[in-house]
Amino acid sequence: MNPTPLQNSLYGALPSASSSATRRHVSLPLLMDMHARGEKITMLTAYDATFAAAADKAGVECILVGDSVGMVCQGLPSTVGVSLDTMCYHVESVTRGLRRVQGTAWIIGDLPFGTYHESKEQALRSAVVLMQAGAHMVKLEGGGWTTETVHFLVQRGIPVCAHLGLTPQTVHALGGYRVQGITTESAATLRQHAQALQDAGASLLVLEMVPAALSAGITTELTHCPTIGIGAGHGTAGQVLVLHDMLGLNLGKTPKFVHNFMDNSSSIAQALQAYVYAVKNCSFPDNALHAW
Ligand code: KIV
Repeated sequence: MNPTPLQNSLYGALPSASSSATRRHVSLPLLMDMHARGEKITMLTAYDATFAAAADKAGVECILVGDSVGMVCQGLPSTVGVSLDTMCYHVESVTRGLRRVQGTAWIIGDLPFGTYHESKEQALRSAVVLMQAGAHMVKLEGGGWTTETVHFLVQRGIPVCAHLGLTPQTVHALGGYRVQGITTESAATLRQHAQALQDAGASLLVLEMVPAALSAGITTELTHCPTIGIGAGHGTAGQVLVLHDMLGLNLGKTPKFVHNFMDNSSSIAQALQAYVYAVKNCSFPDNALHAW
């Protein structure tokens, strides 16, 4: 059987990851510079010290301490039950892990369900907890109603990553883990929300489970807010995956957009490097296999 383009790149020689000691600390200007130069940004979730250090060593620029921790580590049915205390514990663990190895990655902490919905003041209080635990940036889900909150946080010196498309905290309202932005109307709303979030000061935008053409269009339209795709095709400025998914560990059904990077890798370290390499050389995601 002929290898797919993705397999070809993974079977090829992997570049050795530059050691943390020789890399610059990842910062917002560095991420903006990468985007301006057309270099893809790599992001992975991590929830503990050891995996965070391993991802950093592999060259992953951004570590997302996602509220997916609820499903991956706590065995919850969705991310809805994750608390701010839980997020804080995991952000602290990741931060300590990176410090131990003099890691350089940018740490993003997810604001969990119910901790930024009440008011922008509540969002600020929750964001402060995550920033004091070690996060460099907070992520929150949704468009429209979140714009004012993003502006409020950014004005107070808290970098924000927005999240549109499939927003797992609202899975019950969305009727399941479904592709978003399929109709002309919903695609237009997504575009509007993305623009408004950039204008409000969001520095990164996760686009989850949206058609590849739509996410590529939004990526081009946004001038200073790089998009990070997950199940959104290869036209985004960067990619993110849930760590356990890309290592082939999943308690339920593996989403179509995931590739198991342990295939053809003899260690977790090699799988993490293969991910970085595949994102950088645009062989992952393959729109024919991992996108809509
Ligand atoms: O919580 C998480 O892991 C996320 C990613 C799926 C983007 O939000």
